[in-house]
Amino acid sequence: MSRGIFENNFGYFTEEGDEYIITRPDTPRPWVNVISNGQYGLIISQAGGGYSWHTHATLNRLTRWEQDLIRDEWGKYIYLRDNEAGTFWSLAWKPVCRLADWYECRHGIGYTVISSVNEGIKTSATFFVPSNDTLEIWLVKIKNLAEVPRNLSLFTYLEWCLGVAPDWHREFHRCFVETKFYNSIGGIIATKRLWDLPKTRWNRSWDYIAFHTVCPPPEGFECDKEAFLGIYGSPARPRAVVEGTTYQTSGNWVDPIGCLKVEVKLEPYEEKEFVFLLGATKELEEIERLVAKYGNVQGAKAAFEKTRYFWRELLGSLWVETPDKAFNILNNWWLKYQAISGRFWGRTGYYQPAGAYGFRDQLQDSQVFLLLGRPEFTLEHLRLCARHQFCDGSVLHWWHPIVEDGVKINCSDDFLWLPYILIQYLKATGNFSALKIEEPYLDGDKESLYMHCIRAIDLALSRFSSRGLPLIGEGDWNDAMNAVGVEMKGESIWLAHFLYLILMEFGELAVKLGDDKVGRRYLSQAEQLKQAVNQYAWDGEWYIRATDDKGNVLGSKICSEGKIFLNAQTWAVISGIAPLDRARTAMNAVEQLLEQEYGPLLLWPAYERVNSQIGYLTRYTPGVRENGGVYMHAAAWAILAECLLGRAEAAYRMYCKVNPIKRSLTPELYKAEPYVVPGSVDGPQSPNFGRGGWTWYTGSAAWLLKVGLEGILGLRPTYEGLICDPCIPPEWEGFKVRYPFRGAIYEIEVKNPYHTGRGIQNVVVDGTIIRTNLIPVFSDGRVHTVHIALSKKITNRS
Ligand code: GLC
Repeated sequence: MSRGIFENNFGYFTEEGDEYIITRPDTPRPWVNVISNGQYGLIISQAGGGYSWHTHATLNRLTRWEQDLIRDEWGKYIYLRDNEAGTFWSLAWKPVCRLADWYECRHGIGYTVISSVNEGIKTSATFFVPSNDTLEIWLVKIKNLAEVPRNLSLFTYLEWCLGVAPDWHREFHRCFVETKFYNSIGGIIATKRLWDLPKTRWNRSWDYIAFHTVCPPPEGFECDKEAFLGIYGSPARPRAVVEGTTYQTSGNWVDPIGCLKVEVKLEPYEEKEFVFLLGATKELEEIERLVAKYGNVQGAKAAFEKTRYFWRELLGSLWVETPDKAFNILNNWWLKYQAISGRFWGRTGYYQPAGAYGFRDQLQDSQVFLLLGRPEFTLEHLRLCARHQFCDGSVLHWWHPIVEDGVKINCSDDFLWLPYILIQYLKATGNFSALKIEEPYLDGDKESLYMHCIRAIDLALSRFSSRGLPLIGEGDWNDAMNAVGVEMKGESIWLAHFLYLILMEFGELAVKLGDDKVGRRYLSQAEQLKQAVNQYAWDGEWYIRATDDKGNVLGSKICSEGKIFLNAQTWAVISGIAPLDRARTAMNAVEQLLEQEYGPLLLWPAYERVNSQIGYLTRYTPGVRENGGVYMHAAAWAILAECLLGRAEAAYRMYCKVNPIKRSLTPELYKAEPYVVPGSVDGPQSPNFGRGGWTWYTGSAAWLLKVGLEGILGLRPTYEGLICDPCIPPEWEGFKVRYPFRGAIYEIEVKNPYHTGRGIQNVVVDGTIIRTNLIPVFSDGRVHTVHIALSKKITNRS
């Protein structure tokens, strides 16, 4: 019997789609949740593995964790011991790995609940992070299902990291940690007198005080790993739990851990609740405030409700209803949540523990907030990025918050994402005053965001080949093409497409703002670029991808490996640089050569041999990641390109091939989480063709959301209003969207009576027919209804 929807052997979605329920802990890979409020975060797997951090998941990790996707053996654990029988198990499957009578892990939006039944005791632990404090809460319920009283004890166990991870030289690092039990907070605090951050000369203390508390107060604790595990002991059978005793060890001379022991005496059928806190703050008084606020059942439950409400409100402003449930669940809940909690706030995952800001990465992710009608987050991020730019227009490729240390490389596209996202922001908000906001450069005075963008664009224009094509430098969007143009001779065709779009859009913007000089310059340069690309980069059936410093071409029919690259085709369409016939021909090549069973490949065929002139792209195993896998970020662009050409079937077919909910119906092959998009899926040269990986920390979440809304459903913000230009599968009867735009809510209903899937028959706004498919701006805080009927006949797009 089916218990929910999209069920497989390991779990299912609730009807509403906002929870994924895992019914057995041995999923094909760890299926995790990344829960972050932007300051504090935790990651937790269905088995109870994971770690916690403050601000930066690698430079400021609270608890120890090692990346091991097979064993998943590092976590923060809770044990339960039956003091009569001397038996014990863990609330999550790890680390004891006992087969429970019943097991369930619910990953929700902002929380995870792990429940099980063992020896007549039902337990459930809810893990979450309140929206604006720097801690996590574990709300634990223990219920006696039997007719006899039970005498039990709870033990927690975590290893303190307190700073840069991994602290692989543990014997060194433990020499700086101090642990203490504090009666006033009912728990442990831990500090460290060293924080070996990059460029701090190892003479700085960790800024924080970590704490781990429980309510009701514990009857024992342990801060020493040896006392807890026993020498040569293991988390699967810790001595303290085996014996049921703690020795109250703490101080500076321990291998620092956190363990709290709580007595649990239950009458028949009685249930008791416990609240554990774990977090870090700068002051002890702040810990006392947090413990007073959250360290009791009532406070923790109120915080849980508030957290759920916070997420529902943030994500609920944009809502879709289509005939495809998997599309709805992905777009209504998980893509938004993945983009915000995982990518933008948490910036980490199981496959890629991280924490830095990638210049182009989080800028692209910040588009999710434009779709949710919360542009203030996007603007704040644009400003942050402007502050990480140099006067010459270049930027830090990535930088670490906390130390503000980053790397500057000769990457050729990073800085262009600043104007690109600013344009998206302006179209979504109409707030042109943002252009005047001033921010300093890393090496100079303040200037307006408008000037920051001009400096970025002018830098790109200063790096051209004699053929009038932009230089690729140490890579463009594809980081792994890092050797193609190190001598600043090789050219990037993808970059040419991207730059063309920016020149056109920024040129138009400049003209609109009365800056004709810049406007005309950009528009004429766009025209020249278009000519150069179409003269030198057309390979007969598709666009080439690049040339290297020696003049060799990449992505051409003359190549034996890497004959065709996806981005060079999709962006030819997205940017408008390709004449229509070439745009169509190029996308035909994508469908014929790159599109495979699990989506369009990033390139084909994958490189079998290392080519040091290209870079680490060719060092990846064939079929993996950038070397010929389905790279999801780029696959999202392929869907958009198909939509812009009006090829609804192809767009939807590709969408369905990459939709993780659909892929999760064969979990043994796909392996990755059903509810979030993977960074990549192995391509045909891999024996694991079709396997997903690198989930959570991928720029494809925000893009897939944008592509679903702007491409398939066809709602595209412009300066003048909201364009409605759907490109839906012909079989759909229609769809509905609640769309927040410029301070008003648009309740849009599209009908597809002739099963054409596109073209506009008529548009009715608030009961009045309008003559275009440009829905006006209201900015009045009200709800407006829009009814659209799609055409009887399909007219070809120009
Ligand atoms: C990684 C990088 C991203 C880059 C992509 C393609 O996801 O974070 O910035 O565009 O790889 O190489």
